[in-house]
Amino acid sequence: MAALDKVLAASDPRVREAAVTIPVYGQLPFVPERASGCDIFTRDGRRILDLYGGHAVAALGYGHPKLVRAIQQQTEKLLFQSNAVALDIRADAAERLAHIAPEGIDRVFFVNSGAEANENALRMACLATGRKRILAITGGFHGRTAAAAAVTWNSAKWYGFPQLPFEVGFIPRDDVDAARRMIDDSVAAVIFEPVQGVAGAYDLSIEFIGALRESTARHGALLIADEVQSGIGRSGQYFAVQVHGVQPDIVTSAKALGGGIPCGAVLCSHAMAARFGAGDLGTTFGGGPIAAAAIAATIDAIEEEDLLANVRAREAQIREHCVVGPVVKIRGMGLLLGLVCDRPAVDVRDALLEHDILTGTSADPQVLRILAPLVLEPGHVHHLTGALAAIAPGAKEA
Ligand SMILES: Cc1ncc(COP(=O)(O)O)c(C=O)c1O
Repeated sequence: MAALDKVLAASDPRVREAAVTIPVYGQLPFVPERASGCDIFTRDGRRILDLYGGHAVAALGYGHPKLVRAIQQQTEKLLFQSNAVALDIRADAAERLAHIAPEGIDRVFFVNSGAEANENALRMACLATGRKRILAITGGFHGRTAAAAAVTWNSAKWYGFPQLPFEVGFIPRDDVDAARRMIDDSVAAVIFEPVQGVAGAYDLSIEFIGALRESTARHGALLIADEVQSGIGRSGQYFAVQVHGVQPDIVTSAKALGGGIPCGAVLCSHAMAARFGAGDLGTTFGGGPIAAAAIAATIDAIEEEDLLANVRAREAQIREHCVVGPVVKIRGMGLLLGLVCDRPAVDVRDALLEHDILTGTSADPQVLRILAPLVLEPGHVHHLTGALAAIAPGAKEA
């Protein structure tokens, strides 16, 4: 028996990964074997409803025929070429992005991840203004590379580098007076998430975002909207700033952008793009043909299937039916929602997993995160409502 256990353990990827990877991730207690639509099918025969979408990545769910076909066809046609040559498929992706971008934004620089998008946006802000001070917002998360981590709230415990690449200050979130006071002529840029994802789908107030826009414009600083988590339809518009009606100078995108293929993008105005020339920015893989095909297919599917309307309808359904069981309040926007719980969110996540529903936690211990695929169906929300209602009442104090 002990020998059989050993063999089984040896074939478990959790054991195998633990033996050969750096142990930086706390992993969930199941092993996905395949996925389809919003469902993950596990090695031990479970079918789990995925309301977390691989950290907001699986915009079209899993196995969407349009996305799969686009990737397959591009793979057969031309797997890779760098930015040393122009490609129809890269132009297709850039045109689609320019088309859906917030007003005034029509230029794209492709990268490979959210952190890399923010890293380049911050570099562009320093280069364009000649200034060396960046402001960010308390609670914000922008990624793990040096500049992105420097503007991430509470990153000191894992930042790791001996110094910051520029001066950094944090504006207390939703503090309009502090925003007006702190943004001055020394500031190159303010970076913010319209809906703070890792913080637990905390949607910044429209007054606060308006103050950021007004003060940065007055002082010649740039406003960078990090829409790595909130973008590409998740808010119910292509970008959350379009819900607010605010025009940033730079928008960053990643995660859902390629529906699961790693990619990112920095978006800016024509005028801003004109400040940069050959060699100022660069990447080997950014804008590669597979990523470009995935970006074009993802945006086309959102458009053709009217998924922005679906996101808004599912949000309304969740808001109406999911304040049950341990959930006392819902915050956030679209399908970037924070379910505020009467107990530690991790307990609710674990209980939901017993009902075969995957959700996520957040930096706020009381807030469960929903980052469901944009193709979520009404029946999926019923399933969530039922499962939440079935969770036993718990202690009201966390
Ligand atoms: C708002 C935001 N910005 C940036 C990042 C970093 O993205 P990546 O992990 O692709 O580098 C994340 C990741 O969670 C994010 O939520």
